Amino acid sequence: MNNNLKNHWDNIYHSKNEDDVSWFQKIPETSIDIINSINVKKQSKIIDVGSGRSRLFKSLIEQGYDNLTYLDISKSAAKKSRNFLGEQSKKIEWIVKDILNFEPIQKYDIWHDRAVFHFLTDQSQIKQYVDLVSRNISNDGYLIIGTFSKNGPSKCSGLSVSRYTKQLIQETFIKNFELIDSFHIDHITPFNTTQNFLFSIFKKH
Ligand SMILES: C[S@@+](CC[C@H](N)C(=O)[O-])C[C@H]1O[C@@H](n2cnc3c(N)ncnc32)[C@H](O)[C@@H]1O
Repeated sequence: MNNNLKNHWDNIYHSKNEDDVSWFQKIPETSIDIINSINVKKQSKIIDVGSGRSRLFKSLIEQGYDNLTYLDISKSAAKKSRNFLGEQSKKIEWIVKDILNFEPIQKYDIWHDRAVFHFLTDQSQIKQYVDLVSRNISNDGYLIIGTFSKNGPSKCSGLSVSRYTKQLIQETFIKNFELIDSFHIDHITPFNTTQNFLFSIFKKH
């Protein structure tokens, strides 16, 4: 585990309220709509990497999805997320880990990542992530990835990010994934600023 990175994120989640961070969404509509549009079974294995305090799983549990895995580097984020979900948290497998040290013991039907992959700026780490998803998404499974677009911020929470165009994200995952759709969407932060995201949906081939 990269301790500097872990401390960075733990400090944020320890010291800030849920809606004191730019990435907060009351309802993660884009992600929910994408998952529902894929039309997978309610029993499909879904992982949200770098889930933080996202409310995605709350919505998915309410819709009947019941095979959910949470992963985040921050213990504090996981604890606060568990408290927020209460009884519903028992329906989730909880993993506190650096994504680059994750060794899954199962393959996932849907791998969801909103604003996590884009923190990887080093080519060898990007390759490590691409290899990880390629190995651990089931055949015909989906990768849903939301990154900052070229019009988005160059930093988030003080850390540099890689920004993507449709072409760049497609090229990044092309070896094992077919791009189904990719679109831009503005996220309005709790501070009323705008961040332009690129959401991409890939199918494993
Ligand atoms: C910008 S936040 C997005 C949180 C969440 N996906 C959302 O949409 O609300 C980035 C999240 O990724 C987590 N994170 C950053 N680097 C990570 C890593 N290497 N491994 C696992 N989680 C990481 C952080 O703790 C944080 O919760």
